[in-house]
Amino acid sequence: MSLENKVAIVTGGNSGIGKAIVCALARQGASVVIDYVVHPEATEALEQEILQHGEKATGVEADVSKVADLQKLVDTAVEKYGRLDIMVNNAGVETRTSILDTTEDQYEKVMEIDMKSAFFGTQLAAKQMIKQGGGGRVINITSVHEDWPMPGNTPYCVAKGGMRMLTRTAGVELGPHGVQVVGVGPGAVETPINTSTMDDPALLKKLDDAIPLGRMAKPEEIANVVAFLAGDGATYLTATTIFADGGIMQSSVGL
Ligand code: BGC
Repeated sequence: MSLENKVAIVTGGNSGIGKAIVCALARQGASVVIDYVVHPEATEALEQEILQHGEKATGVEADVSKVADLQKLVDTAVEKYGRLDIMVNNAGVETRTSILDTTEDQYEKVMEIDMKSAFFGTQLAAKQMIKQGGGGRVINITSVHEDWPMPGNTPYCVAKGGMRMLTRTAGVELGPHGVQVVGVGPGAVETPINTSTMDDPALLKKLDDAIPLGRMAKPEEIANVVAFLAGDGATYLTATTIFADGGIMQSSVGL
């Protein structure tokens, strides 16, 4: 197992892509701090599932839009497992609102949960990694929309675009400390964030038709990329994004 003796934090870890990442990292031997804000019962079930497989995980209720709560996650990793090697900034929300109809509250919510959490999550994780020595990995779960407009989802695109530059700039700054910062940009994934699309057959068909691989991703297909980036095979990656999108960003309807 390539992540034996490694310690990870996954924000937004009890559902969707985050949950799959928790499982993938634990399966590789990492001890995982599972951050969540709602559904403690889902976190507990996930924790139990992992413990039953002989792997280690702890759920922590923390609102990642607050720096003090992010610090609580880092402190838990250190107190419980002795260190922090892998920080996965995964928590995210979207409003599906355009530039014309987004309210101040909606804007702030998306920026705080998606962008501010990744910024300070990176900062606090990097401080711990530098303190303990030996480097580390910060993995930011962004989106194809870090670089590709999604009309009608403007705050999300702005936040993900910010995460793109966070990944690049922090990657450059932290390189000399051996802390690698990499983004993972999923396309459309079968998670709660996409319920409105999955529940609408016509919209789902339109989406599937736009994806060269012809379907949405399973959360596990994104988690596998994260596990690779956290492991021994990814020693020379930093300040960049790996897109796992079934080709959607390159697709053309050919009209
Ligand atoms: C967004 C989805 C969107 C998908 C593909 C994701 O990042 O959360 O709303 O369907 O990208 O465009």
